[in-house]
Amino acid sequence: MSMKGSHWYQKNLIANQYDAKRFSKGGVLIDTQEKQIITNFIDSIDGKKILDLACGTARFSLLLADLGADVVALDISKPMLAIGKTKAQNSTSSDNMTFLRGSAGDLPFADSSFDIVLAMRFFHLTTVPMYFFLEMLRVSREKIIFDTFNKYSVRSFYNWALPMNSILHSKSHISQLLSCMDVTIEESHQDFIFPYGFYRNLPLSLSKPIRNIDSSVVSTSFGQSISSVSYWSISL
Ligand SMILES: C[S@@+](CC[C@H](N)C(=O)[O-])C[C@H]1O[C@@H](n2cnc3c(N)ncnc32)[C@H](O)[C@@H]1O
Repeated sequence: MSMKGSHWYQKNLIANQYDAKRFSKGGVLIDTQEKQIITNFIDSIDGKKILDLACGTARFSLLLADLGADVVALDISKPMLAIGKTKAQNSTSSDNMTFLRGSAGDLPFADSSFDIVLAMRFFHLTTVPMYFFLEMLRVSREKIIFDTFNKYSVRSFYNWALPMNSILHSKSHISQLLSCMDVTIEESHQDFIFPYGFYRNLPLSLSKPIRNIDSSVVSTSFGQSISSVSYWSISL
């Protein structure tokens, strides 16, 4: 299945700029918050066998390996994987990580190979999230974690102008699709009203007050309904 991003992230330039563009300056606040959400979703990480699908530059693979998980990091892009591998080599947890090039739609693993399957910043690349969700379901035993960019959010006003204009999914549509399967939405976390770009383009000192406003708005029921990102934890 062809999807957005399969080619985009194959470019050396895009891969080389990925971490700095997204997670430096105020982007650190997004990265920190997402890592907190993911670790909150998993009860005890130590010893878990985890597949980090579309791992990119191994942002989550490294975190989970550092916390004692046995991680397989899979991505379709050679340059993204190469950056992830270099980061792993410079970490103390490289023994807990295996990197693999492959496609999320056709995973080279037997059924129920992993305790947890994680796919972060991936579902906005496809119009058919359930196609990939079914493959994740096949190889997972315990839990699936992913995020979606929301249709009914400020993101819909500027999404078209972004170079990698993302596919936005409606929360209720994702919930309906999940409820058609024999899985339980264990938790879902809504976050970020303001565009990511606000954070990424401002120094940390200026984006901190923005984040404080964002956090207080998103904690209200109105804020929840217009959040731009949903993080989903699905138990099997
Ligand atoms: C926005 S990046 C996210 C990387 C990482 N998960 C993170 O949160 O930082 C999207 C990643 O999906 C990968 N990707 C796109 N299509 C894919 C596919 N069909 N199979 C595996 N990976 C894919 C891209 O190569 C890219 O590294």
